Amino acid sequence: MVSERSAVPAGAEVLVASNRGPVSYSLGEDGTLTAKRGGGGLVSGLSAIGPDTNAVWVCAALGDGDREAVRRTGGAPAPGDTGGRRVRMLDIPAEVHAQAYNGIANSVLWFVHHMLYQTPLEPVFGAEFRAQWASYEAYNRAFARALADEAAEGAAVLVQDYHLALVPGMLRTLRPDVRIAHFSHTPWAPPEYFRMLPDDVAEQLLRGMLGADRLGFLTHRWADAFTACCAAVLGGTGGTGTGVYGLGADAGFLRERSHRADVADRLAALREQIGTGPDGSPRRTIVRVDRTELSKNIVRGLLAYRQLLADRPSWRERVVHVAFAYPSRQDLAVYRDYTAAVGRLADEINAEYGTAGWTPVVLHVKDDFARSLAAYRLADVALVNPIRDGMNLVAKEIPVVSDHGCALVLSREAGAHEELGAAAITVNPYDVSGTAEALHEALSMDAAERAERTERLAAAATALPPDRWFLAQLRALTG
Ligand code: G6P
Repeated sequence: MVSERSAVPAGAEVLVASNRGPVSYSLGEDGTLTAKRGGGGLVSGLSAIGPDTNAVWVCAALGDGDREAVRRTGGAPAPGDTGGRRVRMLDIPAEVHAQAYNGIANSVLWFVHHMLYQTPLEPVFGAEFRAQWASYEAYNRAFARALADEAAEGAAVLVQDYHLALVPGMLRTLRPDVRIAHFSHTPWAPPEYFRMLPDDVAEQLLRGMLGADRLGFLTHRWADAFTACCAAVLGGTGGTGTGVYGLGADAGFLRERSHRADVADRLAALREQIGTGPDGSPRRTIVRVDRTELSKNIVRGLLAYRQLLADRPSWRERVVHVAFAYPSRQDLAVYRDYTAAVGRLADEINAEYGTAGWTPVVLHVKDDFARSLAAYRLADVALVNPIRDGMNLVAKEIPVVSDHGCALVLSREAGAHEELGAAAITVNPYDVSGTAEALHEALSMDAAERAERTERLAAAATALPPDRWFLAQLRALTG
């Protein structure tokens, strides 16, 4: 017999918390809401636990569409919109969210961990920072309360990223019975950089994280930096365990997805834009695909390409730099300026070297996943040169998808370098001349070496696919 209580969902056994959830809504002029499902490692990772596990994903409402959806659904979007997953979307006041997300997470913590400050003038930790910090605390508290509310006795809670660094400590106080993991998808700053933060804030962040039972990082380098920060600021980690889980590419999904009709259409259009060289054969391609984040180093990548064309005229007319730079965090002026700088430099190179039948840089700035996969397929060279990056999945995806194998020019500052470095051509991301030489070497690589390296790259790239990445963390937490 069905008791009255069974209508109330039991507390969740597995909980995921992240700022950006697996679904977002846009609000049409006529008041209709359109749901868009997100992708990424966490979405495919969570699917590994199977539909029978009582799981919930707690995330923030990010825009007006999301807020309206929360109002209409009481914060629980329809399973049809979320791929069947239970989602709890938090309507944190827009002003609080903006201060926490743009003010602290993206303008302070992201800058610290990627070491992006121009230190003669920034950062400035004054009254404005303190007001934003109070919002960051309130936003973390809202997540901790929602998780405490949703979790079954002894549940496993997996908290994601720098947005939610205080959640483990807060949740531990509210619910001592649950198991808590925190995973950082970014690099972690070394102590001398991390300690730019005001001492009390640095301490609060680390103590917040140490409220977890397990802390996960993408590479040993970032895990070691975290431990070193704890040693410098707190005198140690107090016994909290760290683990390294190098998120890999999802080969099955990528290979299937990249052979669908929409990708074939984009491939034909790109081939048209790239054209053929003086000898009639298709031009070589140097492909990069990034969200336009300040850490991706797109401008120096273009400078290196310009230097290649200047130093080695034999490549003119024979190569095209296919650069996709998709919008990211456009609320922040410094991101908008960076996006504009990328566009200007691409135009300059095209004006300087372009000819009637040859566009040296093909730049696209409108996000299009199918077109990204098309570019992956035709890549001869993949350029991944971030000044600092937690992992960089593009470096892992291109060798898996490329039709004829590709040479990978890879920054030693990308987390992916820990696993892919041996089969890649390594660059110092600040060294534009060195990067130009690496591009020449990559373009000149003979077919046999390229095939052999691509095979090794693809094997390393797929060593820990998203489902196993997620399950390994869950097992370490609950096992
Ligand atoms: C990058 C980082 C992730 C982070 C995400 C947030 O992809 O690698 O660690 O969670 O940015 O991006 P968003 O667009 O939500 O600010």
